[in-house]
Amino acid sequence: MDVAAAITPVSIAAPHPMGSAWSLEPGVTFLNHGSFGPSPQPVLQAREDWSRRIEREPMDFFVRRLEPELDLARERLAAFVGARPADLLFVDNATFGMNIVARSLTLRSGDEVLLNDHEYGAVLRIWRARCDEVGARVRIVRFPEPLTSSADLVDTLRDALTPSTRLIVLSHVTSQTATIFPVRAVCEMAHAQGVPVCIDGPHAPCVTEIDLSRLGCDYYTASCHKWLSAPFGTGFLWVHPRHQKSLRPVVTSWGGSLAGRSPHWHDEFNWSGTRDYAPFLAIPAALDFFTEVGAGNFDRGVAAFRAHGHALARLARHKVEALTGLACPIPDSPDWYGPMISLPLPESVPETTHGQMNPLQQRLWEAHRIETPLVNWRGRRWVRVSCHLYNSAADIEQFTKALAEELERFSSGA
Ligand SMILES: Cc1ncc(COP(=O)(O)O)c(C=O)c1O
Repeated sequence: MDVAAAITPVSIAAPHPMGSAWSLEPGVTFLNHGSFGPSPQPVLQAREDWSRRIEREPMDFFVRRLEPELDLARERLAAFVGARPADLLFVDNATFGMNIVARSLTLRSGDEVLLNDHEYGAVLRIWRARCDEVGARVRIVRFPEPLTSSADLVDTLRDALTPSTRLIVLSHVTSQTATIFPVRAVCEMAHAQGVPVCIDGPHAPCVTEIDLSRLGCDYYTASCHKWLSAPFGTGFLWVHPRHQKSLRPVVTSWGGSLAGRSPHWHDEFNWSGTRDYAPFLAIPAALDFFTEVGAGNFDRGVAAFRAHGHALARLARHKVEALTGLACPIPDSPDWYGPMISLPLPESVPETTHGQMNPLQQRLWEAHRIETPLVNWRGRRWVRVSCHLYNSAADIEQFTKALAEELERFSSGA
């Protein structure tokens, strides 16, 4: 049976026609846009054009042009995520944004910050370090497995709240488990209980809707260099107006406008010393690229990407489940996963030692030139497959064939 045709209504037999805009290394099957999302050519070109412009007259650029140009880029990004530009900051990446939130939150001894065991390791470290400074503590809840309803997740978090909870930190789309979390329902519940929420959203731009005017969170941090495919080193932090005055920079610099504009809470963050601002200024080119994917219509471009990516992730899910006999513990629905899926692997796959590449991941790379990460989660090994417009069913075929071969090796102890 042609599994691809049976499970997907969109054609994934070939890459999307706009997939040729990426210049990826020939001979490599890149199934890891979720970790590092390379930019298509028009975005690389825009970044280069900005760099050249900066280099031609840096004095004029940094002192007179930078702030208005950043404003224009911020307006475009704000419209995309349903925010007022005034509430949005550019930061290097989601990690940077999360550090600003951790530094700014008032925490005292005995306070708690609530996370869960799907959260990203670096985010856990950020909050552990911050809590350690003042004698507060990170509390980690465990959601049910399989996850079958949003209500289960919301109830688990509600049950874990205590009078000491100062913040809930939650991914919009998780890293290890590639799951789309019901962030709006969590925000509603948390606010009814008087607890602020910080959403960790680096995988969300383009993958799922972000409407910050309606989401109801207090802080939202994301990276544009994943699925939006903007240049590396582009992220944002959105902060609800009620928290803006208490926000502290992680890098202290002049804290004022270089162009002599009137004071704004952005001032502490816009200028963190002399650096390359070209990546931020190329974010509009990434948005324009999706408009081109949609033949002149941005929403249609994003929808085309989601349909293509999800159909491929779904194909990977069905093929790997059939190969391993192990079920993915989230519902088979675009409400729960997008262009990225994380799949459990058999016990025969060795554990990943911290700081080292898993031996199976290494084999997939060395013997098959396939880039796809393996992670440890809840004592098991998982493989995560990410698909963008340049991928096709042939990549998934190649991946599952290689995986079958390598699993056979590991189970026979070869
Ligand atoms: C859920 C999650 N949070 C935070 C991050 C950190 O993102 P960045 O490296 O862009 O700062 C990642 C990166 O993969 C992630 O998956």
